[in-house]
Amino acid sequence: MTSIVSGGSRGLGLAAVEALLARGDAVATFSRTGSPAIEALASRHAGRLVHELIDAADAAAVRGFVARVADRFGRIDHCVANAAIAHEGVLATTTDAEIDALLAVNLAGSIVLVRECVRQMLVQPRADATAVGSPSVTVISSIVASRGSPGLTVYAATKAGLEGFARSLARELGPRGIRVNAVAPGFLETDLSASLSPDNRSRIARRTALGRLGTAADVVGAIDFLTSPAAAFITAQVLTVDGGT
Ligand SMILES: NC(=O)c1ccc[n+]([C@@H]2O[C@H](COP(=O)([O-])OP(=O)(O)OC[C@H]3O[C@@H](n4cnc5c(N)ncnc54)[C@H](OP(=O)(O)O)[C@@H]3O)[C@@H](O)[C@H]2O)c1
Repeated sequence: MTSIVSGGSRGLGLAAVEALLARGDAVATFSRTGSPAIEALASRHAGRLVHELIDAADAAAVRGFVARVADRFGRIDHCVANAAIAHEGVLATTTDAEIDALLAVNLAGSIVLVRECVRQMLVQPRADATAVGSPSVTVISSIVASRGSPGLTVYAATKAGLEGFARSLARELGPRGIRVNAVAPGFLETDLSASLSPDNRSRIARRTALGRLGTAADVVGAIDFLTSPAAAFITAQVLTVDGGT
């Protein structure tokens, strides 16, 4: 199986790349910059892991990336749209440039990546779905899409947009055997949430049933599951992984 994961250099994307490699997939990922972790993985799995430096907001570059992956591995079975940025700040002080960047990376960037993967999935021969699972798209949303969070309004809008996108795409592609789901993590200990103040961090931990923020390792099982044969009849769903908030 071949899986594409955007934003695989660190955080949840890196954990997803590692998990999908561990189960035997060929994996292709991109990010704007590299990281020691993804570079080490790429040299350890040279035949099975591709990492390129690409901006998710650059539609032509994403199109080229997906075409190269399809060329190299022959097919694309799973697409995980994970790359995202966050901007913390109240709406009143958010600039046009910040709004544009959030929409371009989180929403348009994910949609373009998924479109390019789906175009390939639609033309390639179907794999044996009982052995390897049906092709799938998984978009990474956030608990703030449904719960809301002050200071994350535009980010929340991009994630809510992705959930609507996933539900509609699931209906569009269901007849073609392609499943589409979203994973909605709670707050995670990654670079994306590094700017959370200690007060906010303990407030989030207090209101979480499991009493702590999550980690990438807590969420990656949901991605592994949704891209596996065990999820063959699951589509148009949002799987929340937030420790109970
Ligand atoms: N952390 C949380 O609290 C949390 C909570 C709920 C949902 N999520 C979601 O989970 C996903 C992963 O988040 P994370 O916490 O793992 O974030 P992270 O640690 O900041 O990692 C983000 C990844 O995306 C890449 N990326 C960002 N902008 C990009 C762009 N324009 N083009 C290409 N790659 C780009 C980053 O690499 P470069 O910067 O080098 O490009 C990095 O590989 C995101 O969709 C996020 O919204 C996170």
